Amino acid sequence: MSILDIRVLGDPILRQATTPVATMTEELHRLIADMFDTMHHARGIGLAAPQVGRTERLAVVEIDEQRLVLINPEVIERAGKAKGEEGCLSIPDIYADVERPRTITARALDERMQPYEVEADGLLARCIQHEIDHLDGKLFVDYLSVLKRTAALAKWKLEAHHYPGHVRRVSLETPEDLDEHQHPDEEL
Ligand code: NI
Repeated sequence: MSILDIRVLGDPILRQATTPVATMTEELHRLIADMFDTMHHARGIGLAAPQVGRTERLAVVEIDEQRLVLINPEVIERAGKAKGEEGCLSIPDIYADVERPRTITARALDERMQPYEVEADGLLARCIQHEIDHLDGKLFVDYLSVLKRTAALAKWKLEAHHYPGHVRRVSLETPEDLDEHQHPDEEL
């Protein structure tokens, strides 16, 4: 396994639509394993293919004991509303409250290309929705009011120089750097 570079806000790939996965390949199996590895090293709980420079409609999520491979995922049911703080591995150190449906049912294919459905609420529901947004070129800052988005992007402008070429090299981050990134709410 290897740790992949994470693309950060400003890289156009984060705004591109993804392409559904038609067949599982050895290369895609490796990509999925690398995405879990990268997510763990970056202390994230979700990671979508565009965040590692790929165009497949594919994301991974891991919260507590729940480990999901989401291939061609879609939300098929939504209920309620919930506001919660979000961050993103592609927008390090920026956090904001986002309102989303509280409970969802998502449909996806697993790593063997078998269809499954997952009902989720709380952080898992938020994370799955955040990752599916990534697959549609959407980022959590898009949900903010003009004022809050302007403030978040102004803060990001001060951070962005840490990531030349819009690349976040997770493998080079020292434990001290990771501590600096620690935050009560995880990045997705
Ligand atoms: Ni994200």
